Amino acid sequence: MPKIAVLPGDGIGQEIIPQAVRVIKAVLGTKEAEFEFKEYLVGGVAIESVGKALPDETLRACQEADAVLLGAVGGPKWDHLPSPERPETAALLGLRKGLNFYANIRPVRMLPSLISTSTLKEEVLDGVDMVVIRELTGGVYFGEKGRSDNPRAAYDTMSYSEEEIRRILIKGFETAQIRGKKLCSVDKANVLETSRLWREIAIELAKDYPEVELTHLLVDNAAMQLVRNPKQFDVIVTENMFGDILTDLASMLGGSIGMLSSASLNGTKGMYEPAHGSAPDIAGKNLANPLATILSAALMLRYTFAMDEEAARIEAAVEKVLEQGYRTGDLARPGDKVLGTVEMTDAVLAVL
Ligand code: NAI
Ligand code: MG
Repeated sequence: MPKIAVLPGDGIGQEIIPQAVRVIKAVLGTKEAEFEFKEYLVGGVAIESVGKALPDETLRACQEADAVLLGAVGGPKWDHLPSPERPETAALLGLRKGLNFYANIRPVRMLPSLISTSTLKEEVLDGVDMVVIRELTGGVYFGEKGRSDNPRAAYDTMSYSEEEIRRILIKGFETAQIRGKKLCSVDKANVLETSRLWREIAIELAKDYPEVELTHLLVDNAAMQLVRNPKQFDVIVTENMFGDILTDLASMLGGSIGMLSSASLNGTKGMYEPAHGSAPDIAGKNLANPLATILSAALMLRYTFAMDEEAARIEAAVEKVLEQGYRTGDLARPGDKVLGTVEMTDAVLAVL
């Protein structure tokens, strides 16, 4: 029986995850009985109840599950904790590394009905539709690091093995192959040795994907191009830190943080979560936009369960409610009627 580990976590995670589960169950219909949905503790709520942000039971359940649906973790209540115990480090990095979710996929699409909510010009955004793929378990965040006192200094190390580079680039080529057949590999090959290896391997792999047009951009130029002319991109693939920064930048091309979904994959196994955090400022008030989580659930159906049709139905329903003018607070402009988390989900369910 396919297993879905459901991890609401902290803040608005407690509100948006149950809504996403309602949507998944609705789209599954009679197939729902074939799936196991089980909730586990993670983040600050897990610290409160069992003293650990990533309880062993949760990690084990996630290892055994086919997919993990995660809300968000963290909040001011746990900010005083030392870094390794904090929800963001212990739980998020623990899950990514513990389950080897090396490929982070973020679709960035400007839905026509949301174009006026953006800070960028309509002609720049109209038609933006790309996927950013970020390497998630290697690079400088996981390399050797240290400090010395005299003289005071610190270092972090960026290192990548051929295997780590190859598997993420393959994900890039495969994604481009089923989309617009354009892959842009982003590196810093003019100064970094890891990037030179990255580029070499990209060029080698390109021979296996003759239909995909491979281009290379230096990361600084890529940042500029994402703002100047984002429509030129189909699929971007890049290493961990570059991807961290570029995906935040790219997220703004999709309108609101409340719209951004993500998948972190290891083969077909994946963890699905909205790109935003626990939003303590609006938590517990039925104000959060549930759509990023609902769209992440659609990615789960597509990538882990190969249920493309069901995924597309969820995506179409989200588009439809936005076209109909339904808005949560983060998407609203003066005069719009603002819906709560539950009511927005009701609207999606009504379309479904
Ligand atoms: P955040 O993403 O939680 O919130 C940033 C702003 O966006 C806030 O004003 C919030 O109200 C708004 N926002 C976020 N999601 C929204 C939604 N679905 N609907 C409407 N508005 C939304 O980022 P922030 O405030 O920097 O972090 C809050 C906490 O979340 C921190 O403890 C942080 O470490 C944690 N965090 C956790 C993440 C995760 O679990 N993956 C990712 C990012 C932050
Ligand atoms: Mg980030």
